[in-house]
Amino acid sequence: MSATHTLNWNESLVLGDARTDHTHQEFVDLINATTAAPADQKLGVYRDLLNHTVEHFAMEERWMRACGIPEDFCHFGQHASVLQVMKEVERRALNGETEYIGSMIEALVEWFPGHAETMDTGLVAYLQEKGYDTTAEAFKEGALASTEADLPSCGHEPGQAC
Ligand SMILES: [Fe+2]
Ligand SMILES: [Fe+2]
Repeated sequence: MSATHTLNWNESLVLGDARTDHTHQEFVDLINATTAAPADQKLGVYRDLLNHTVEHFAMEERWMRACGIPEDFCHFGQHASVLQVMKEVERRALNGETEYIGSMIEALVEWFPGHAETMDTGLVAYLQEKGYDTTAEAFKEGALASTEADLPSCGHEPGQAC
């Protein structure tokens, strides 16, 4: 297995929210399973990864909406862009062009640590500060009400484009 097609679970990927960390570990496992799959099973495992990613992103997006984070916040946009490309790769692979799966995995291996360390880290810190419990998907008793004015950190300096 090539290093550019696999991800190693390591401390820098642990964000300190049990549900996020569990989901991210499953994502990493599915990336590696797609790479390890023999050619005739690659598309099936890739589709498991795609379905998992749809759920993974939808989960984080539910939490953001529960906190009143507006739809134009960059974290939503980054998820949408990744899913759009992943679905196009699935569409092509279903037409027999399975060679794009490898480059998709390479792109995800390159993209994911940065996303986890910026946008997901910012989201986890924000949810903890707001008292949002990601397991119950509810605010803890006595949690501060969200205001639309404050947004999670997305890893960029204020004023810098996402
Ligand atoms: Fe995530
Ligand atoms: Fe995310």
